[in-house]
Amino acid sequence: MGNLSYDFSGRTVIVTGAARGIGLALGGFFQQAGATVFLVDFDAEELAKAAGSVGATGIAADVSSTADVERVVTAAVEATGRVDILVNNAGILRDNVLWKISDEDWDAVLAVHAGGTFRFTRACVPHFRAQGSGRVVNVTSYTGLHGNTGQANYAAAKAGIIGFTKTAAKELAHFGVTVNAISPNAETRMIASIPDAKRAELTAHIPMGRFADPTEMCAAVGFLASDEAGYITGAVLPVDGGISM
Ligand SMILES: NC(=O)c1ccc[n+]([C@@H]2O[C@H](COP(=O)([O-])OP(=O)(O)OC[C@H]3O[C@@H](n4cnc5c(N)ncnc54)[C@H](O)[C@@H]3O)[C@@H](O)[C@H]2O)c1
Repeated sequence: MGNLSYDFSGRTVIVTGAARGIGLALGGFFQQAGATVFLVDFDAEELAKAAGSVGATGIAADVSSTADVERVVTAAVEATGRVDILVNNAGILRDNVLWKISDEDWDAVLAVHAGGTFRFTRACVPHFRAQGSGRVVNVTSYTGLHGNTGQANYAAAKAGIIGFTKTAAKELAHFGVTVNAISPNAETRMIASIPDAKRAELTAHIPMGRFADPTEMCAAVGFLASDEAGYITGAVLPVDGGISM
């Protein structure tokens, strides 16, 4: 990752989908930058290892469950008295051409990406308002911006996150809260699950010619989460090697 010089000491950070991949990289980054970090994932076993590896607190929870989400935010606030930065990163794929997507696979993808982003943001708002500050960084996708064959459910969910980001940015601006999104491209389990031929085709379309290491997402998220980025809200920042040009 190099020496990223952000200082988040005294800050409470929640990162969802953090047992691996981009979420784990971000959790490690915030922990190194001095924050108190809560990693959230529904894969309890991997989460415990991940939290141990970066020295953060892991809380097993399903982002699509209101009760789970409220339990996490309450635990973070009880432990630290605040919540400053929320990164809505948890995600799943249930790919298929749209005429073969089951109701269950449609609902599951929307519930995790759009539903989880909504539920966690909603649960943090009272604390952000009381503090007069807050940072939300959502994770969208190239697919949400441009569509992608075999991903109608994922595209709808990720496009939904963009609409949610802009709306939340408008609603929360006067409370000192910014809401932004990144559109990443990183070598993770999610990418490894794509068939080889399709992955090669995708890589060929990335001007940088490669997927990023997940740690390459940290500079952008750290920037959007910093105090200094307080005048940036409702933005979607591609961190994608140029694929969305
Ligand atoms: N990797 C990429 O190139 C890429 C590109 C565009 C967008 N994204 C987005 O980045 C985010 C992170 O993806 P990744 O590539 O690190 O994937 P990943 O599969 O490595 O990690 C996703 C994590 O989310 C967790 N998760 C899934 N459903 C959950 C739920 N209901 N509750 C709690 N945790 C849950 C998983 O257990 C997993 O640990 C996702 O939102 C993904 O859509 C990734």
